[in-house]
Amino acid sequence: MVKICCIGAGYVGGPTMAVIALKCPNIQVAVVDISAARINAWNGETLPIYEPGLDEVVKKCRGKNLSFSTDVEKHVSEADIVFVSVNTPTKTQGLGAGKAADLTYWESAARMIADVAKSNKIVVEKSTVPVKTAEAIEKILTHNSKGINFQILSNPEFLAEGTAISDLFNPDRVLIGGRETPEGKKAIETLRDVYAQWVPMDRIICTNLWSAELSKLAANAFLAQRISSVNSMSALCEATGADVSQVSHAVGKDTRIGPKFLNASVGFGGSCFQKDILNLVYICECNGLPEVANYWKQVIKVNDYQKIRFVNRIVSSMFNTVSGKKIAILGFAFKKDTGDTRETPAIDVCNGLIGDKANLSIYDPQVNKDQIQRDLSMKKFDWDHPVHLQPMSPTSVTDVNVVSDAYTATKDAHGLCILTEWDEFTKLDYQKIFNNMQKPAFVFDGRNVVDVEKLRKIGFIVYSIGKPLDEWLKDMPAVV
Ligand code: NAI
Repeated sequence: MVKICCIGAGYVGGPTMAVIALKCPNIQVAVVDISAARINAWNGETLPIYEPGLDEVVKKCRGKNLSFSTDVEKHVSEADIVFVSVNTPTKTQGLGAGKAADLTYWESAARMIADVAKSNKIVVEKSTVPVKTAEAIEKILTHNSKGINFQILSNPEFLAEGTAISDLFNPDRVLIGGRETPEGKKAIETLRDVYAQWVPMDRIICTNLWSAELSKLAANAFLAQRISSVNSMSALCEATGADVSQVSHAVGKDTRIGPKFLNASVGFGGSCFQKDILNLVYICECNGLPEVANYWKQVIKVNDYQKIRFVNRIVSSMFNTVSGKKIAILGFAFKKDTGDTRETPAIDVCNGLIGDKANLSIYDPQVNKDQIQRDLSMKKFDWDHPVHLQPMSPTSVTDVNVVSDAYTATKDAHGLCILTEWDEFTKLDYQKIFNNMQKPAFVFDGRNVVDVEKLRKIGFIVYSIGKPLDEWLKDMPAVV
């Protein structure tokens, strides 16, 4: 029986391995992690991550051909194929700080594989890594190999949080990069045969190592670029009276452009987009391509601009100060259907409002107080380390009020901000919310989920990104 081990039981390692176990009953899958808390959660009733459909898949296979363990060395030494899906944070110190990927966790995983291996192995890069990482990993493995043969493959993951299980069941493509040697080609075939148990062959793309590594960075850069493009248009829409939803609908009807990923918002977040683009920028700079680097840097700059613009709209419409005012924050996760808060725009928006001394009352259906306080206190980039190794947060923890429903959050509030597009925020009783708020009552919709006209009829002053401005806001332009 083929044995697979995955190092890293996170948002990628957990769901991908659970789906491999479900679709390939003939394969034994072990997911290992240095975090005992994470492994305990995978073995318990409440899984460590919220992802629609994940519970069902895990419960079907756990105890059969899927296991979760902290015994990293045992499972790695027994495996034929080792996936590595560990953190690849942005470096905060030294060469490339603020841009380059920190490969500490990857390197330690590779050294451990070399140490404990007793038989030939295929080592698969699942983490998103800079181009040419495979070469470095190969050097670590072969220089410590004791005669064992290692084949390195790049198999970047394209799942999107919130839809991970359906993305894994039915991927647009599976990408496998390997060496163009006979051994490399054989390794590619072995991994292709795993995916071929449920993915149609024409969706499995095989390339060389560097193309696979770069394709992942390129795909994320293109996706983020679409969001920054429509967000840049949202600012122009507000200035001209155009409606960004109408513009993106019209633009997206062009089959060359397509309708997806064209929703204006307070900005993109998540663990990947910013990190991967910074990584791409760094690689371009290292390869003497400053013009290309600057092109991609702009995608992040527009994203930052969008968050600052949103905070400025709030403050300027509320008489240029939110000091001492209660502001309800509806949604903290970086998008709906996930509890993930990594790089969520809510962090920058909340910190911007706290900087102006607002009293925040936060509600998110999947994010708890502890997580929110950690996020608001943490330094940039510190989040992307295994939880138990995260640098100590500053001593003064940002104290915010976190509540368990939208009605409590908005009671007596001066304004409410929607920062995640959770479906339940479209179904709230806004008349009831209005009745219980201070007047004038403001709504700042960072995800374009509310019915602006309906809310204006109720009496709210409404700002919705990229939509024609309320008369009130026209008189109070945001200073950026
Ligand atoms: P994560 O932080 O949820 O999981 C990483 C896990 O690796 C942690 O549980 C950590 O404890 C463990 N770990 C770190 N070093 C280890 C070691 N030496 N031995 C054993 N375990 C170790 O991260 P996530 O989101 O799963 O991402 C993993 C990689 O996949 C990253 O490179 C990310 O960029 C990439 N990726 C993430 C996607 C996402 O949607 N989250 C999508 C596609 C790729």
